[in-house]
Amino acid sequence: MLQKVYIRHLPNKIGETVELAGWVTRVRSSGKVAFMQFRDGTGFIQIVAGVQDVSPQDFETIRRLTQETSVRVTAEVVKSEKAPTGIELLAKHVEVVSETHDYPITPKEHGTDFLMDLRHLWIRSPRQHAILTIRHQIITAVRQYFDDLDFTLVDAPIFTANECEGSSTLFKTEYFGESAYLSQSGQLYMEAACEAVGRAYCFGPTFRAENSNTRRHLTEFWMVEPEVAYMDLDGDMELAEGLVQAIVSRVLERCQNELKILERDQEPLKQVLAGPFPRVSYTEAVKIIQDSGAKFEWGDDFGGTDETIVGSKFNRPVIVYGYPAEIKPFYMKPDENNPKVVRNMDILAPEGYGEIIGGGQREENYDKLIEAIKAQKLDPKTYQWYTDVRKFGSVPHAGFGLGIERSVSWICGLSHVRETGAFPRLPHRLKP
Ligand code: 4AD
Ligand code: MG
Repeated sequence: MLQKVYIRHLPNKIGETVELAGWVTRVRSSGKVAFMQFRDGTGFIQIVAGVQDVSPQDFETIRRLTQETSVRVTAEVVKSEKAPTGIELLAKHVEVVSETHDYPITPKEHGTDFLMDLRHLWIRSPRQHAILTIRHQIITAVRQYFDDLDFTLVDAPIFTANECEGSSTLFKTEYFGESAYLSQSGQLYMEAACEAVGRAYCFGPTFRAENSNTRRHLTEFWMVEPEVAYMDLDGDMELAEGLVQAIVSRVLERCQNELKILERDQEPLKQVLAGPFPRVSYTEAVKIIQDSGAKFEWGDDFGGTDETIVGSKFNRPVIVYGYPAEIKPFYMKPDENNPKVVRNMDILAPEGYGEIIGGGQREENYDKLIEAIKAQKLDPKTYQWYTDVRKFGSVPHAGFGLGIERSVSWICGLSHVRETGAFPRLPHRLKP
């Protein structure tokens, strides 16, 4: 049997009797009436059982229902002024599917470590449910955006032989007598793919062996990476800005309930849609950091706090471009007018969330690319297939990567990326 009616559909079913299947979150009762809080995966609702509306046996069953017991319910959908969704259910019949005893997550406050250990159950709670729903809408917005712009989804491999973003964060694994690495980014593959399909993107898990315990770092995270042939840095910024606006716009449109559950201030999100993102050069960003009193030299890489300082200057995401070549990977194209900096860009989210996008224009010249690989003490032989692309009709091209978890964290207003996915991977967390 395929369940057909869910809480999500009930606003269109006022006056009808429906059958729902789900779980009890709480029951309180007097002699005459019992109130059951009920969820079915698509929402949360109150079911009212009056002593004269159900059989005496059912009334007893309902009164004794425990938290997270699974039940099937037959009930009538009615309007209710008091309910947050404007509707509630009047019970007619209840059938227990599986009784629960001693559910470990009670309505009292629990510590984060305790809840993270129980992540397989914690995801049932309203807050976590809201985050998972918003994450789903963000991912749908991403796919829709690229599909509407005629991109082709090209899946990048996860086992790789090369590094993309620096050897210090590679997870190494044994591969039939050779070494393989878990992919840090699909970019190098997309650079080849965009010369096959014009506009390519990949979307999948990526891995960084970063033993950093910050609120922004995971060891496994999802990244969407578009790459476009015949696109320069300007086009790249335009594409990235459009993506961020498409994501925020979909969430504002479809996730009002969820944003309310999370108590997210929506004003900063509305600002994202109010106009183009400010663009500042790395050099201007350095000045912003120095003027704030923080210690920072031209040539340093931004840390989390530096990004927060720059991002907080603006009420909308800010695009920072032209970072020093020395702190950036080999594939970035130097600026012809100032070869000390590269034609790259990062997008920093406001409200202290920092970098959500990194990307830029790539070096398309074969000889210069080989030189850059050698300059970073890498072996051109392992990049043979990648540099080969430059020999056959090489064209200017650019792309970027947007981190899904950083975006979810910012849009939901969370204090840590660990709550942005169902089963996060952190340096000290491999379970559940
Ligand atoms: O800036 P990054 O390292 O860029 C790349 O990997 C490029 N190859 C992308 C490209 O041009 N195709 O990572 C891109 C984004 C960051 O802006 C951030 O949102 C996210 O990926 N990210 C992380 N998210 C969670 N945990 C981590 N450890 C992350 N590292 C990067
Ligand atoms: Mg980056």
